[in-house]
Amino acid sequence: MGYAKVLLGVLLVSALATTLTAQPLAPFKCSKATAKCTALIDYVSPSNTILSSIKDLFQVKKLRNLLGANNFPSTTSEKQTIRAYQKIRIPFTCACSNGTGLSNRSPVYTVGGRDGLYHIAAEVFSGLVTFQEIAAVNGLVDVNKIEVGQKLWIPLPCSCDDVDGVKVVHYGHLVDGGSTVEGIAEQYGTTSSTLLSLNQMTNASDLKAAQVLDVPLKGHRTEGSANRFRFLAPFFAIPRDPYAPNSVKLTHFRFPTLFTRYNLL
Ligand SMILES: *[C@@H]1O[C@H](CO)[C@@H](O)[C@H](O)[C@H]1NC(C)=O
Ligand SMILES: *[C@@H]1O[C@H](CO)[C@@H](O)[C@H](O)[C@H]1NC(C)=O
Repeated sequence: MGYAKVLLGVLLVSALATTLTAQPLAPFKCSKATAKCTALIDYVSPSNTILSSIKDLFQVKKLRNLLGANNFPSTTSEKQTIRAYQKIRIPFTCACSNGTGLSNRSPVYTVGGRDGLYHIAAEVFSGLVTFQEIAAVNGLVDVNKIEVGQKLWIPLPCSCDDVDGVKVVHYGHLVDGGSTVEGIAEQYGTTSSTLLSLNQMTNASDLKAAQVLDVPLKGHRTEGSANRFRFLAPFFAIPRDPYAPNSVKLTHFRFPTLFTRYNLL
């Protein structure tokens, strides 16, 4: 009986670990010391939410930056429903330091009454960071002791480095189940070898579902454009039939999986 309970616990914990660990295999390289730039990362909410809640969670200053990063029409309401596990790209400022890149002292999360550090990392921020990383950058000595109202910096992985001598926007892409390095490279206009070296991977078969992959996006910035991400539009075209029931069975998409469910199975 006791054993069964423990076993069940272990199974649950490992199931959680599989579904909620959205982590880079290695820290993103960011060698341009003291550089700052704009970066992107995928976020999936564990439950249905609205756009403005995501905007607030990540402290995106302007709604139009969030809309632009997701290629949503500029008329989209901030009350727009975002379904559980729908990927939303978050634009944020990245700062390089000590060989890696982290979101620049932002977003800041205020601890609520029922929050634990693990919950904040794995669920609220969909595992984009670990609770150990939050503890480290905030100088927490005891991970079990956080206080209501306490402010915690959530360090998102990112980079400002040029790739193959070209300026890019680094996009922390949450890998879907069934994706391949080759497919992702094709989808975002880069090569497998670039993705492998950028992510310090030696073998494409090491790609894991829910891994946060550093994907370099090239493009032409439209000067003076209100929409800073318009230049990424070719990469973020919306699939023609995003809700097709069989869409999750494809191994990868020619178009980004913007509206497809975050598929791990
Ligand atoms: C920089 O990285 C080195 C080696 O990983 C580490 O020992 C050092 O504490 C880091 N410094 C800062 C300021 O994070
Ligand atoms: C990559 O990993 C696969 C599966 O583990 C293995 O079969 C293959 O030989 C590896 N390729 C290289 C180049 O190491």
